[in-house]
Amino acid sequence: MSYLDDMLNLAKDAMNKAYAPYSKYNVGAVIRGESGKLYCGCNVENAAYPSGSCAEQAAISAMILGGDIKISDILIISDGKALVSPCGACRQRIREFSTSETKIHFCSKDKLEQTVSIAEILPYSFGPENLDK
Ligand code: THU
Repeated sequence: MSYLDDMLNLAKDAMNKAYAPYSKYNVGAVIRGESGKLYCGCNVENAAYPSGSCAEQAAISAMILGGDIKISDILIISDGKALVSPCGACRQRIREFSTSETKIHFCSKDKLEQTVSIAEILPYSFGPENLDK
């Protein structure tokens, strides 16, 4: 089994544990840090709707806590009909910890469907280097 199979299994598990009673849209995300360690996240909604958080956000927090600072791969899965794609805010969050090598994988229920780069989904982005003077 490849690391992507491991990531897909962990992402499904995370998706199934999501707390999404309002949208009923469960999302799982798994990050592979540069160390090779895997970090999981799910979406967690709130009765005060804007206080909810995305799966990618949770996976990034776990990655930082685990000591990684760069994303080698991030895999995202949902239980929706259409292929899940990170929201705008999560694209920016992923951007912070990405390189040109970072692979972003979109999955359907059973398999990896598409792999893109951060430049493809967030062109002309603003990142840490933009703060240089
Ligand atoms: N959601 C994510 O977790 N990640 C995304 O990239 C898209 C949206 C969650 C937020 C909310 O709990 C639900 O999906 C519906 O928008």
